[in-house]
Amino acid sequence: PNYISVNKLSNLLNCRSEQLVEDLTGLGFANVTQNYILSREYVELILQEYNYELPASRRLLNAQTVYDELKSPINPRLLNKRPPVVTIMGHVDHGKTTIIDHLRKSSVVSQEHGGITQHIGAFQIVTPLSKRKITFLDTPGHAAFLKMRERGANITDIIVLVVSIEDSIMPQTIEAIKHAKNSGNETIIAITKIDKIKQPKERERALERITADLLVHDIQLEQVGGDVQVVPLSARSGENMDLLEESIILLSDVMDIRAEDSIKIAAEGWVLESQVKKSVGNVATVLLKKGCLQKGNILVCGNTYCKVRNLLDGAGRPVTKAMPSDAVEVLGWREVPEAGDQVVQAKNEAQAKKYNAKRVALLQVEEQAVNVERLNLERGIKK
Ligand code: GTP
Ligand code: MG
Repeated sequence: PNYISVNKLSNLLNCRSEQLVEDLTGLGFANVTQNYILSREYVELILQEYNYELPASRRLLNAQTVYDELKSPINPRLLNKRPPVVTIMGHVDHGKTTIIDHLRKSSVVSQEHGGITQHIGAFQIVTPLSKRKITFLDTPGHAAFLKMRERGANITDIIVLVVSIEDSIMPQTIEAIKHAKNSGNETIIAITKIDKIKQPKERERALERITADLLVHDIQLEQVGGDVQVVPLSARSGENMDLLEESIILLSDVMDIRAEDSIKIAAEGWVLESQVKKSVGNVATVLLKKGCLQKGNILVCGNTYCKVRNLLDGAGRPVTKAMPSDAVEVLGWREVPEAGDQVVQAKNEAQAKKYNAKRVALLQVEEQAVNVERLNLERGIKK
């Protein structure tokens, strides 16, 4: 059963609760107060009485934005440099996974500590030359990413577009170019499998052809006076993989990628993956966008919340905090949060519970609004 108080409903309808009490009395409800509880069918009646228009109501009642109230106001003085977040895209079989595997294996983090890298949807490397961090998302195609995109979240900064030296651009390369342009992400071209063409002249010709093909799709490489970097490499032999990493750092410096990273502001992030682990319970990989996440913090996400019991890095080791662009496993969720949902820090458990409840109520009313529309539609059809 779905119930809502007059007070809450007046908030949702954006009218004064006194007004709603008066209207309800006019409609025949007895002894109505602001705390009067309305059941589902009455809410539908009232929504009709108020000529509730669905498009407006959607905007008004959007449960997805309820946690926005918990976010800290923007404070440019708290902005500091953060590592770039990179996704690798390209046509089938052009070598995306091989690049990721190579980067993972060579990451300083896993080498130094001998940790077993685990799949948490993202991993971080430290570049060999400049000793800078880069976060790679390793499953950019899956559903969580589509969900985040739908919600207007652009969690990536840079797209590495992989093009096989043997094939040049193919249908999915073109798709990725379109995506990069729409999302406003910067692009770096990685020409892969160069070990397959050993003859220098032949290799030269192949690279020229790719440069021309890219130009047709409005990607202007540095070679032709544009500003898109290109790195010919072999993920199999490792040749020029370090160059790719340094190109990303160079581009991120030009882009001047920053985030507010103070503990004074509410942390914000997105769930990349989630699961129930036998030994530790509900776990979510969170990519932090803002703030500084620490043990003991309270987070809300979807209809659940978390008192952060522990934070683990990509090698499963406990860390004391996560900063913007870090992806960490967060332990301590009441229920498993959904991948693709936003995470926002609450001040305390009471606030988290309050906002969880608010979101649940909003979802119910949204559902009711949709039902009303359906009802009206059915009635309209019958007439
Ligand atoms: P999908 O996930 O199916 O879209 O493919 P992918 O883009 O992840 O390609 P993947 O990394 O699986 O590589 C496809 C094939 O190309 C594999 O057999 C790789 O071993 C091979 N390959 C990838 N990179 C290189 C390279 O630099 N040199 C050579 N010789 N082979 C490569
Ligand atoms: Mg792959």
